[in-house]
Amino acid sequence: MTIEEMRRLERRYAVPVYVRSPIEFVRGEGTRLWDPEGHEYLDFFAGLSVHNLGHCHPRIVAAIREQAGLLAGSSNLFYSEPAMRLCERLSVSSLGGKVFLCNTGTEAVECAIKLARKHAHRRGIESPEIVTLDGGFHGRTLGALAATPRLARDDLFGPLPDGFVAVPRDDPEALRAAIGPRTAAVMIEPIQGEAGIVLIADEILIGAREACEQHGAVLIFDEIQAGMGRTGSLWAYEQAPVRPDVITAAKALGGGLPVGAVVTAPELGDVFEPGDHGSTFGGGPIAARAAIETLELIDDPVLLGRVRELGERFRLGLEALEPVTEVRGRGLMVGVSLVPELDAAAIRDRALALGLVCNVPGRSMLRFLPPLTIAEADIDEALDKLRRALA
Ligand SMILES: Cc1ncc(COP(=O)(O)O)c(C=O)c1O
Repeated sequence: MTIEEMRRLERRYAVPVYVRSPIEFVRGEGTRLWDPEGHEYLDFFAGLSVHNLGHCHPRIVAAIREQAGLLAGSSNLFYSEPAMRLCERLSVSSLGGKVFLCNTGTEAVECAIKLARKHAHRRGIESPEIVTLDGGFHGRTLGALAATPRLARDDLFGPLPDGFVAVPRDDPEALRAAIGPRTAAVMIEPIQGEAGIVLIADEILIGAREACEQHGAVLIFDEIQAGMGRTGSLWAYEQAPVRPDVITAAKALGGGLPVGAVVTAPELGDVFEPGDHGSTFGGGPIAARAAIETLELIDDPVLLGRVRELGERFRLGLEALEPVTEVRGRGLMVGVSLVPELDAAAIRDRALALGLVCNVPGRSMLRFLPPLTIAEADIDEALDKLRRALA
């Protein structure tokens, strides 16, 4: 099917919520993608930080194939070893409490919101509030949307759930003032991905942690984009000055399959009771086995060390590009701002025509989220293609 034919089907049958580049990828291996004509692309987007081990990693493919031939699922009303092993793996590798498995990032965020609210009600707070930061992105369902100030449009999707307060992401005083006796949680994306890769300052993270301690509120880190090795540690919080009480994970966790998770600190492990929450597909064995393999492969000090080194090399290379005014990021989660006269979407399209996949998160910005398995040569190739796209 040609792009034109797909466009016709899209216009007639697909809800028009996406702006797509006119290209189809039909095969992937490692850092590379191919279109139907066999043109090769270097993937510096990884399906928006999903394919952190590159495309079609043989161990993940084998686990999925094997489990698909055994049993696709039996519901959460029975036991399933992959789900229990995944809960253990996630807990032991992070906050040490309990884990809820779901399918997407936004679902993980919804679960974290419910958990924080129930925790607050148990502390006698009648109308709990969740404090968020401007620029944060937490998802598209109603709770997650209400927690995403940039998109929380009451005029379009209202009434949105009450109980969300947004503060500027760089104002410690405003943050402290917003956290009080009604605060159930502070939810922070420690490196804001959709905002164009913006690191939240240590001062803000420390302020949030201290104010949460003071008022008994829960500190939630949304690690859906920044987690799973992306920044050079398994979880982004490991490089932060504070430890959250809850993390949300998704995207790369499933090794390409839809998996989300909420991990709690031990003291929050029993906030939910039977019936409080659930998900038909959450923790299904195919996805859970893919996630276990992914965690095993990413939670590797050698790989994570390489992410930090390669990130440094890439950022230095980007800084040397003429129209780049700012380079932001940690590990292989990298964003740049370009001189305002440049149309970032046109640069992305030119890069694509040269065989490099990257993304435009906002005006005059480019975002790079390559597989964590890239080599030095891939970085040099990406920089060369970008240089030509910017020329
Ligand atoms: C930080 C963050 N939180 C939540 C989400 C929502 O995840 P999903 O699209 O899997 O629902 C995203 C997706 O981009 C994200 O980047």
